[in-house]
Amino acid sequence: MCGIIGYLGGREATPILMESLKRLEYRGYDSAGVAVLEEPRQGHATRTSVTKSEAKVDTLVEKLEANMPSGKLGIGHTRWATHGKPTYINAHPHTDCKGKIFVVHNGIIENFAELKAELEAEGHEFPSETDTEVVPHLIEKYYKGDFLAAVRAALKRIHGAYALAMFSSEDPELLVGARLNAPLVVGLGESEYYIASDITAIIPYTKRVLVLGEGEVAAVTPLGPEVSTLDGVTVKSKIVHVDWDVAQAQKGGYPHFMLKEIHESDEAVANAMRGRLSDDGAVSFREFDVSDEQLKSVKDVLLLGMGTSLHAAMIGEYVIEDWAGIPARAEDASEFRYRRPTVGKDTLDVVITQSGETADTLVALHQAKERGSLSVAVTNVIASSAARDADGAIYLHSGPEIGVASTKTLLAHTISLYLLALRLATVNGRVSLERRQELVESLRALPEQVRGILARDEEIRGLAEKYSKYGDFMYAGRGLGFPVALEGALKLKEISYVHAEGTSGGLLKHGPIALLDDQFPVVAICTASATKDKMVSNVHEMAARNAPVIALVTDGDHSLDGVATDLFVMPAVEEVSSVILDTVMLQLFAYHVAVKLGQNVDQPRNLAKSVTVE
Ligand code: AGP
Repeated sequence: MCGIIGYLGGREATPILMESLKRLEYRGYDSAGVAVLEEPRQGHATRTSVTKSEAKVDTLVEKLEANMPSGKLGIGHTRWATHGKPTYINAHPHTDCKGKIFVVHNGIIENFAELKAELEAEGHEFPSETDTEVVPHLIEKYYKGDFLAAVRAALKRIHGAYALAMFSSEDPELLVGARLNAPLVVGLGESEYYIASDITAIIPYTKRVLVLGEGEVAAVTPLGPEVSTLDGVTVKSKIVHVDWDVAQAQKGGYPHFMLKEIHESDEAVANAMRGRLSDDGAVSFREFDVSDEQLKSVKDVLLLGMGTSLHAAMIGEYVIEDWAGIPARAEDASEFRYRRPTVGKDTLDVVITQSGETADTLVALHQAKERGSLSVAVTNVIASSAARDADGAIYLHSGPEIGVASTKTLLAHTISLYLLALRLATVNGRVSLERRQELVESLRALPEQVRGILARDEEIRGLAEKYSKYGDFMYAGRGLGFPVALEGALKLKEISYVHAEGTSGGLLKHGPIALLDDQFPVVAICTASATKDKMVSNVHEMAARNAPVIALVTDGDHSLDGVATDLFVMPAVEEVSSVILDTVMLQLFAYHVAVKLGQNVDQPRNLAKSVTVE
């Protein structure tokens, strides 16, 4: 969703806001803007300079470079439109009638219509169509000389989700941040402070952050931040040290973040295992340190996620059932939250979310927790909402993922779920020491095998370019290959805008096969598995309908020679390893199709990296 940044310190705010907005652009990129409280010039009163662009951050930066506001306090925003089109007027920051209060916002103010009607009746004017604009006007309404008190009074009237950064030109040494159902951190530099929707924005400046809790307000002055509730009760926030480095958040010579991040897959896989596996296959998680007894009492596992993370959940569902013999189900978190599911004290809830901030996933987590079950968040972001709200966390340690399409973190999620399945299998006595060691050996071999696929980037590019002329794709797989197929299709459609759907091989005959003809290629996951022969039969059915078929097959398997149009030969590995290798191949395939079609792969249209509204 939107990215927000605020700065208060001794340096010029504008270059810092510009840099941070570039780093935040992956959250939203419809339009952008900054407000900087300018240093008073001789004989002039303080004034706030507002610069906006109805296009991406680069256009805003050009405008700022041509006319750089000078000041030590400022806020900035990159927008993912919810209320009102991405126009100049709708771009943030928004202000009050007197042009003294400036606000940037991420989230949705659900009761904005009634608040706006109330304020309009009192004479306030609203040039934009946004929900955000009620915030500066509400603050204006309650302002009696104390900006912080007015902010608190205004926020008490607001329902929905907000992460806000705000200042008033009447208080040149006060920057205020607040959050409810949307993430916000306060960065602590050397006598300078930042407010940001996520850590990525500020990693060049500081690695020490305060993570605001729900309903908390941070009042930042040159003396530092003071955190309190909306009722003014002081809150003691924990300082979190972030281990991401600046280089990880830069392209490092790659044309796109997505390609760079796919090429970091080997490390992501290794990092997800690091320090968690002993040689005999015993698994331990530092931040999810539950006893064997507690895990033994788990009778079923609920895995929640959205998009790519839901596909990881589906992979987890398969392996937990297979290895640990426990009923497991993967659920679309946005659907789960509106059902009356049978979750109880014996259920383990596993929330899978790269960002740790996906609104639907968080609500589903809270609902499951209310039913008294044990929960764990599998997430990439330290101290994210999911990590804080669940009973424990399994961190991916993948480094920042900037490309909107999830790539390396899916692999890390998958490995983390394998380890969880192995731990559950062990406490339930469902896996022999020998088998456990075998699996561990296979997992440990993965980083090298991933490098083998990455080295075939050119081969994959050739295939992608050959197939980039088609407007429709079917991805099919069975067993663990089914979520792999769904993910392959999601990756292609979200970055190339080419229609792609995923199906199980079995489901194909029940409808989707009607679509196939010589203009409708199929990507078939036929690497070694218990259902490989069934997939081979499915490929025969596809080929009989003249569909061009790209088949991913295991080295040495010739059952599709002369049947599939193109074979992509994979190393002979365990099925769980194939999931990883096949996924990397399909990510590269989607990437190269999108590049060939000239699409903006890092910032696909209509999408945002983390979906913090329902
Ligand atoms: C994947 O490429 C997408 N960008 C999207 O489906 C994503 O996986 C989903 O929004 C969930 O995000 P999360 O993992 O941060 O919760």
